[in-house]
Amino acid sequence: MTDTSHDRLLIIDFGSQVTQLIARRLRELNVYCEIHPYQKVTDAFVTEFAPKAIIFSGGPDSVMRTGSPRPPKAAYEAGVPILGICYGQQVMMHDLGGKVEAGEHATAEFGRAYVTPTEAKAGFVDGWFAQDGREQVWMSHGDHVSEIAPGFTVLGTSPGAPFAMTADLERKFYAVQFHPEVHHTPNGAKLYENFVREAGFSGDWTMGAYREEMIRKIRDQVGDKQVICGLSGGVDSSVAAILLHEAIGDQLTCVFVDHGLLRLNEAEEVVTMFRDNYNLKLIHAAESELFLGELDGQSDPETKRKIIGRLFIDVFQKYANQIEGAEFLAQGTLYPDVIESVSFSGGPSVTIKSHHNVGGLPEKMGLKLVEPLRELFKDEVRELGRELGLPDSFIGRHPFPGPGLAIRCPGEITREKLEILRKADAVYIDQIRKHGLYDDIWQAFVAILPVRTVGVMGDGRTYDFACALRAVTSVDGMTADYYPFEHSFLGETATRIINEVKGINRVTYDITSKPPGTIEWE
Ligand code: XMP
Repeated sequence: MTDTSHDRLLIIDFGSQVTQLIARRLRELNVYCEIHPYQKVTDAFVTEFAPKAIIFSGGPDSVMRTGSPRPPKAAYEAGVPILGICYGQQVMMHDLGGKVEAGEHATAEFGRAYVTPTEAKAGFVDGWFAQDGREQVWMSHGDHVSEIAPGFTVLGTSPGAPFAMTADLERKFYAVQFHPEVHHTPNGAKLYENFVREAGFSGDWTMGAYREEMIRKIRDQVGDKQVICGLSGGVDSSVAAILLHEAIGDQLTCVFVDHGLLRLNEAEEVVTMFRDNYNLKLIHAAESELFLGELDGQSDPETKRKIIGRLFIDVFQKYANQIEGAEFLAQGTLYPDVIESVSFSGGPSVTIKSHHNVGGLPEKMGLKLVEPLRELFKDEVRELGRELGLPDSFIGRHPFPGPGLAIRCPGEITREKLEILRKADAVYIDQIRKHGLYDDIWQAFVAILPVRTVGVMGDGRTYDFACALRAVTSVDGMTADYYPFEHSFLGETATRIINEVKGINRVTYDITSKPPGTIEWE
C-alpha cells in the first residue's frame, strides 16, 4: 500500500462478478491498479493510496436501499478522474445530485444493447463509436439513472438507458451504465484506454520495471538471511525461483519434491534446468520410495490425496530443516489469490482467500513469507518469466496437479501402471505438439483405467489396460469443455499409443465437460 513508485489506480469493488476483469484491462494498458472492497475504502484509505484515478465497479445492490454501499467522500474530493460502471454510475449520480429509479421490467436491460453517440465531444469517447455510429455494449442492470447530476453531459444513449454514458467533463468524472470490461462489449478496452489517457497515466507498469522493483523489494525484505523455495517446475514456482535467485543468489535454496508421481523425464528436466542452467542451489528430494510405499494398496481417491499431502509437508520440512539459518519461505502466490472479495452474506464483511502451497508450513516452522508474485495475474507471471529468460517450454506448460499422476491412475497405484501411464502420456503430448495444438488446450493428459480389456495384436490375444485421453479448454480450470479433436487425430494417436506403449490395448477419449465432470479423474 505504501509503494508509490508508479502511477496507481484504485478500483473500489462494490461486488460485481467481473471486477477482476477491470483490473485485467488496465494491466494490459500498463497501468498499475489494485482492487479493494468498498468496506475498506475510507477517506483515510484514499488519501494514503494516493490514486491517480479511481474506478467504481458494478455491484448487485440498489442505491435506493438504505445502507447500500457508497464510496467515501474523499474519492470525489481527491481531484482525480473517476469512472463509474453500472452500480458505480448509479452511486455517482446519486451522490452528486442526480436521481436513480428502481428497476421495472420496462427499463431493466440484460444482455446486448447498442449505444449511439450524442453531439457532445469528449476525449473519453474518442475513436470509440463504430463507423455506423453505434457501438455494442453489455448491459446488466435493474435500476437506472433517471436524472443526471448537475454538471454532467450525456455522451451516449441506448434504448433502455438514455444516460448510458455521461460525463462531468470539467472534473473528468465518467459514468457508464454498461460493462466495458466484458468480452460482450467488444470495443470496451478502448474506453479504458481513453480513461487512463485522460487521467494522465504514463503506462509505467511494465514487466521490466516490475522485475527491477521486485528485486529491490526482495533484497530489502530478506537482507542477508536464507530463503527456502518449493519448486515444482510449474510456471509460478519457476518464475518465483528465478526472480528470487536474481535478487539474492546463493541465499536461495530450492527444494524439489520428487514423489515418484511425475511425468516421463520430468524430474531430470527440472533439475537440469534449474541446477545446471540457472546455477541455482537445488535439493532434489528423491522420495518416490516413501510415497509409493505409503500409497501401496490404497484405492480411495481422498485417502490417496491425504497421504500425498501429508507426506509432501513432512518431506519438505525434513529438507528445509537442513538449510541452516533459513528464515523465509518463498511462495508463488498470485494476485487473484489475495484479492479480498466483497461479501454480502453477513459475517465478517470481507473474506480473504489465503494461499498456502505448502499448507501451514510457514507457521509451523516459524518462517516468514516472501511472495514475489502476489501483485501479478497469471498471464503477467508468464510475461515476467519471458522477461527473465525462462524458455517457452516452461512458461507455456499446462497445469500439473500437486498429487501428480496419482489422480490420473484411478484405483490402486502400482509402479507398472505408472510406467505405462508415463509412456502413453508422452506419446499423447507429442502428438498434440506435432499437430500444433498444445497452446490451444488448457490441459491434456492420459488417465490409465483400472480395467484390462481383451484385444488382438498380430496373431495373438492381448489382455491389457485401457486408457482415457483427456484434453480440455478452460479459462481458469473452474469450468471446462472437452477439446474437439479431429477424428483423424484421435485415430492416429490411439494407433501410436497402442503400438508404442506396451501394456495398453484400448484408447478412449473423455468427452465430459466440467461440470458435471472434473478435469482430473480423481
Ligand atoms: P479438477 O480436477 O478439480 O481440476 O477439475 C481443476 C484444476 O486443478 C488442478 N488440480 C490440482 N492442482 N493440487 C494442484 O496443485 C491438486 O490437488 C489438484 N487437483 C486438481 C487440475 O489439474 C486442474 O488444472
